[in-house]
Amino acid sequence: MHETTRKPAFPEDFHWGVATSAFQLEGSPNADWSTWDPVLSDIPEITNHYTVFREDLKLLKELGVNSYRFSIEWSRIQPRPDTWDEEAIAHYQEIIDILRSYNIEPMVTLHHFTHPKWFLERTPWHQTASIEQFLRFTEKMVSTLKNVRYWITFNEPYVILIGGYLDGCTPPGLRDVPRSLVALKNIFTCHGKAYDIIHRYVPDAQVSIAHNMSVFAPWKKWNPLDRLLKKSANYFYNHSIINAFRTGVFIVKFPFSRAVEIEVPIKDKLDFFGVNYYTRIHLRFNPFKKMGVELRYSDIDGHGLTNLGWEVHPRGLAKVLRYASRLDVPLIITENGIATHDTEEKVKYMKRHVDVVERCLKDGLDVRGYYYWTLIDNYEWLQGLDARFGLYKVDFKTLKRSPTSAATYYAYLIQSRSRI
Ligand code: GAL
Repeated sequence: MHETTRKPAFPEDFHWGVATSAFQLEGSPNADWSTWDPVLSDIPEITNHYTVFREDLKLLKELGVNSYRFSIEWSRIQPRPDTWDEEAIAHYQEIIDILRSYNIEPMVTLHHFTHPKWFLERTPWHQTASIEQFLRFTEKMVSTLKNVRYWITFNEPYVILIGGYLDGCTPPGLRDVPRSLVALKNIFTCHGKAYDIIHRYVPDAQVSIAHNMSVFAPWKKWNPLDRLLKKSANYFYNHSIINAFRTGVFIVKFPFSRAVEIEVPIKDKLDFFGVNYYTRIHLRFNPFKKMGVELRYSDIDGHGLTNLGWEVHPRGLAKVLRYASRLDVPLIITENGIATHDTEEKVKYMKRHVDVVERCLKDGLDVRGYYYWTLIDNYEWLQGLDARFGLYKVDFKTLKRSPTSAATYYAYLIQSRSRI
């Protein structure tokens, strides 16, 4: 059916947005990540967004989005433990003010993977003192920044823990199960306490985390070990966190060992649930791989590849939304996108995922928003500058932005599916 003739299922106040993160657009000399990935030494300011942000925010107007998710770079705000950089705070306030003047609802992420260098050196997440540090930063932001209702405390806490404490590919680069469990407790304790702090300052705030959800499949359907792995991954990655928000207890099960129970003060500390969804992952046991698991992001026949090798699997979005609906809070898709140089692929990806959201709405799921990842091409964690997720293309030599057909299409999609 042609877009303009269909009856939209999207509610009037549905959030049509795009999502970004500060570090991926603007870098920061004081962030742990700036020296972690050598690629960044050649292009420390990445897209130079910190300077040309006013121009970039105009692109949001061009798209016609009514909401924008972005993050605050902690290492700019607090370059040293005893220093608040008021200019940096004013910078992020200006972003909020510009958004408000465009009638765009800001959604602010407090932690999107990066930390001030001093934080990881002194009080990494496996130390109890990390809690106090993060909450000081939270309170400073929430008490200073005006006109923000939507807050994300942590982007993808499980990814922080897997990368930083199990796989070791991201700061602090550990492979240490006991410490990962302490870090989990501390990060989620921060969420629970930050939830209360935010509500103290902004009584009608809407607070969540953004959780990376995936669907899993056995590498070989006939292999019972692969099937077992799929079941465990699905439980851990998708359901253990949902259960913890319902009960206040994380139950972490490692293969061949007893389950660990970790109490965390997060029961019901959610006003909505942020879901980041990209792809489906195939799994198999492989004792020669880290943690004994081999992951494959493409489908069996190698179809559906993007330039990160991720399979396009829109049905998975409906699945994870259904899982998340057990939380009984509104759901917001806080990230969904594809990295490809082929913008027609990007258009198709977006359309197929938005179609899934529409079907979920018709089936009665309470989905309140969709944020495309991302506005302009940026730095992709550990993959550098070639992962082209942007609606606007960036030439990394001249830093010029130019619209792709996906930008035009997203603007059209918003218009045609909104009830206006
Ligand atoms: C998410 C992450 C984003 C972005 C995206 C694309 O997991 O939150 O920062 O990198 O993946 O890979």
